[in-house]
Amino acid sequence: MQTLRDLPALRAAVDALRSDGRPIALVPTMGALHDGHMALVEEARRHGRHVVVSIFVNPRQFGPNEDLDAYPRREAKDAQMLQAAGADILWMPSVDVMYPAGFATNISVSGISEGLDGAARPGHFDGVATVVTKLFNQVRPDVAIFGEKDYQQLAVIRRFVADLDLPIEIIGLPTQRAEDGLALSSRNAYLTDEDRKKALALPRALGEAKRQIERGDPVDGALARAIAMLSAHGFGPIDYVTLCDAATLEPMHRLDRPARLLGAAKIGTTRLIDNIAVDPA
Ligand code: PAF
Repeated sequence: MQTLRDLPALRAAVDALRSDGRPIALVPTMGALHDGHMALVEEARRHGRHVVVSIFVNPRQFGPNEDLDAYPRREAKDAQMLQAAGADILWMPSVDVMYPAGFATNISVSGISEGLDGAARPGHFDGVATVVTKLFNQVRPDVAIFGEKDYQQLAVIRRFVADLDLPIEIIGLPTQRAEDGLALSSRNAYLTDEDRKKALALPRALGEAKRQIERGDPVDGALARAIAMLSAHGFGPIDYVTLCDAATLEPMHRLDRPARLLGAAKIGTTRLIDNIAVDPA
């Protein structure tokens, strides 16, 4: 595996990989890799693809009071894991390489990026869309792979890839979970032992609400009970627990089409998000 930090070297290395005609897969990450990321790398390797993994903690997607400085950084361990998993290139640009002096462009996706995390974290999805567009232009992959844990992020990326006619196939992979059901996330590293136990209330509240909604209970009541369950387990503030159209993320009050149940709330100082599919059948 080559670890590269400047753009000309990346371009040359990707061109060399591409010369055998096999497709290039990109797995964009912010590092602090866990089994969820490794599942994305494994998927990238399928069908004989070459694999480029990027690690870039993107300042533009963190709000002024968020955890940019505290965000876990484990470059050496990440590189070892990627080498063992068979990645071809680790792309690790600095902030100056990604955003050179004078950088003035913003990619903003209206509608789908405005509610949920877009409302709770103003500017977050502009930061994500801008950096992912740059990563796509830097690597020029055939395929890019993201986890469904960041469901709204995946929907925003699908939207701008379609809108901008980018010739990249976007693959979303199901959320990887710990044995007890907690969604894997780099931010789980912040949880104290006590908060780690309480955090389980998030997947459980969503799972319970899903069961109630799928058996025909009124949606708003099921959501209210999920919120009450999170509060009772020490979560707060609760940004949202909501049922949305699975493709557009429009809020839904009746289960009449494929839906997604999404939640975001803080336990202690850590903000967690999670989501599950809700099936009208
Ligand atoms: O999901 C992430 O880790 C980040 O939001 C991404 C897609 C790498 C963009 O910085």
